[in-house]
Amino acid sequence: MAHSPGSASPIVPLTAAEPGVGLVPDVSARAATATGHANAVRRMFDRISPTYDLLNRLLSFGIDRRWRTHALDELARDLPEGPLVDLCAGTLDLSAAMHARFPGRSLFSLDFARDMLVAGRSKAASAKLVVADAMRLPLRSGSVAGMVCGFGMRNLAEPSAGMREVARVLAPGGVFIVLEFFRPTRLPTRVFHAVYARVVLPTLGRIISGDAEAYRYLSRSMQGFLSREEFAGALRDAGFEKVQAFDLTLGIASVVRGVRPHGALTLSPGAAPAPRGAP
Ligand SMILES: C[S@@+](CC[C@H](N)C(=O)[O-])C[C@H]1O[C@@H](n2cnc3c(N)ncnc32)[C@H](O)[C@@H]1O
Repeated sequence: MAHSPGSASPIVPLTAAEPGVGLVPDVSARAATATGHANAVRRMFDRISPTYDLLNRLLSFGIDRRWRTHALDELARDLPEGPLVDLCAGTLDLSAAMHARFPGRSLFSLDFARDMLVAGRSKAASAKLVVADAMRLPLRSGSVAGMVCGFGMRNLAEPSAGMREVARVLAPGGVFIVLEFFRPTRLPTRVFHAVYARVVLPTLGRIISGDAEAYRYLSRSMQGFLSREEFAGALRDAGFEKVQAFDLTLGIASVVRGVRPHGALTLSPGAAPAPRGAP
């Protein structure tokens, strides 16, 4: 249903959440069991929500704040008027920064892990919280001016299906920004990621959250994800144009930006690379 940015709420009613299965997501099996993967990811994030912020700051040495600012600089470029969405919003760090950067705009913070949203509630009091799956957005087609997804896309059972959903809800000229740890391709970054993901992440995760398995999953999800170049290609296949990618801090994290075209969306179903299995 068409909906012009800036008019009434773009939100449509939610469907009930599905019951969860397994405790720790299996990255390699995600394409085969999309619902099982999604439920396991959701339960895992609900479980680690009490210590998520503390670990985030420690694990990134606070650099994530600068990465978020950079992501919003890219969002601000040629951004049409209308509502904004923080996709896979977690504990609302990006929502808080978006509220400060774009005051006066409607802001919807969407995540399927309710406890993550609740844990961050006080950071962005004006954001409307939406508990929903990123692959089935309860948002009207063409209703959103800009969407940001911070460290969320690699958790989706089918990232290319999520991209197509984003393209559907964005208004013509709408901007999609992805801040992510893509699978590194250059040797120094590969070495850094390997040590960090296999040693630092699970060790600190175990000490602070008591949940080494969850942090092992997070490291496997980085190594099993698309490279920055593959992701940019998948965005083009999902119909985005003007796709650009920027490395942050020597490529440890990256920002990818895509724009929803003004004309009809041209999709290339099946052309997008599937997520790689975990090694
Ligand atoms: C690593 S956290 C990132 C949170 C936040 N964006 C940030 O920058 O700190 C990933 C978030 O994505 C959410 N998520 C993963 N898959 C999702 C899906 N299919 N639909 C909605 N949220 C999802 C998780 O619940 C979690 O809160």
